[in-house]
Amino acid sequence: MPHALHLIARPLGEPKDSDFELRELAQTDLAEGEIRVAVRYVSVDPAMRIWMTEQKSYWPPVGLGEVMRAGGIGEIVESKHPKLPVGTWVGGMTGVTEEFVTNGKGLRPFDARALPDPTWALHVFGATGFTAYFGLHEIGHPKPGETLVVSAAAGAVGSTVVQLGKAAGCRVIGIAGGAEKCAYVKDLGADAVIDYKNEKVGKALSEACPDGIDVYFDNVGGEILDAVLKRLRLRARIVLCGGISQYNATGLPQGPANYLSLISARARMEGFVVIDYLHRGEEAIAAMAPLVAQGKLKGKVDVIDGLSQFPEALRRLLAGKNFGKQVVQM
Ligand SMILES: NC(=O)c1ccc[n+]([C@@H]2O[C@H](COP(=O)([O-])OP(=O)(O)OC[C@H]3O[C@@H](n4cnc5c(N)ncnc54)[C@H](OP(=O)(O)O)[C@@H]3O)[C@@H](O)[C@H]2O)c1
Repeated sequence: MPHALHLIARPLGEPKDSDFELRELAQTDLAEGEIRVAVRYVSVDPAMRIWMTEQKSYWPPVGLGEVMRAGGIGEIVESKHPKLPVGTWVGGMTGVTEEFVTNGKGLRPFDARALPDPTWALHVFGATGFTAYFGLHEIGHPKPGETLVVSAAAGAVGSTVVQLGKAAGCRVIGIAGGAEKCAYVKDLGADAVIDYKNEKVGKALSEACPDGIDVYFDNVGGEILDAVLKRLRLRARIVLCGGISQYNATGLPQGPANYLSLISARARMEGFVVIDYLHRGEEAIAAMAPLVAQGKLKGKVDVIDGLSQFPEALRRLLAGKNFGKQVVQM
């Protein structure tokens, strides 16, 4: 029998296995117009940590007892839908479940054979790539010759931003944790890399960006954001994409102490959420596909096997143990 993973407790600090419960799915027959989707992969996203709290965000909290919310991809294994035949791959908010029945609303069919791997529909050609593309271009407005700094630069969103920044003609500085991840970011084309776990970020930023920073794509918040704020160029743009350094915090998140630099630099710091751009996904794919074909945009996927491993996958992501886009294979 297929299973789903339900959230049963709000975690304090790092999520625990006991915050979730594996439950058997009740088998239901399809009504006219419905499909049964066998979920193949779910995306593991830092924002899930926020969805598990009572905190107000762009989506309501996942209710206690509900199936854990997740984006995912799967194949239609049974269909009474006139336009969605068996064998079609679909993507959308599947939840952390092996299977579900739906009328197909909100799901996006895609051609898995046209992708390097089906998981790319969750990565470069999915919400991760859209986050990087629209965050960088719509909020960051990078111009050729400008200096772009990217944090969590070896991660799914960050590594895509590094490569899109190079394609936009920027000088790109990546910040990542550890020698292996830094070497990967350099291989992706970054002009300089800072290992925040082994270097003083402020000093390293001053050396790598002697004329200051034009665009900062912020995935982490906290101390790194503060170090960047001190080094802004005139009319700099900060793209507030995420603040992963703060997601497991049990108290208030650490705010930026150096925010007054925004005034003297006449700079802008702006948050954004990818869901506002999902309807423009095809535009991002059209812009990124040629870069992929030319070998200028690569993606790395970190696969963990089994629905029950979801809590561990989330812990890995929040602790930086993932190397590439974290997904769970069902
Ligand atoms: N605004 C939106 O619509 C949107 C959409 C998707 C994602 N996001 C945000 O984008 C960011 C990246 O998400 P992702 O899915 O691509 O994950 P990811 O970057 O693949 O994985 C998270 C990475 O964050 C780094 N990290 C963890 N704790 C850190 C800390 N204390 N300081 C610095 N770095 C830390 C780790 O890399 P190291 O090993 O290098 O530390 C880890 O591998 C997250 O903040 C997420 O919330 C936002």
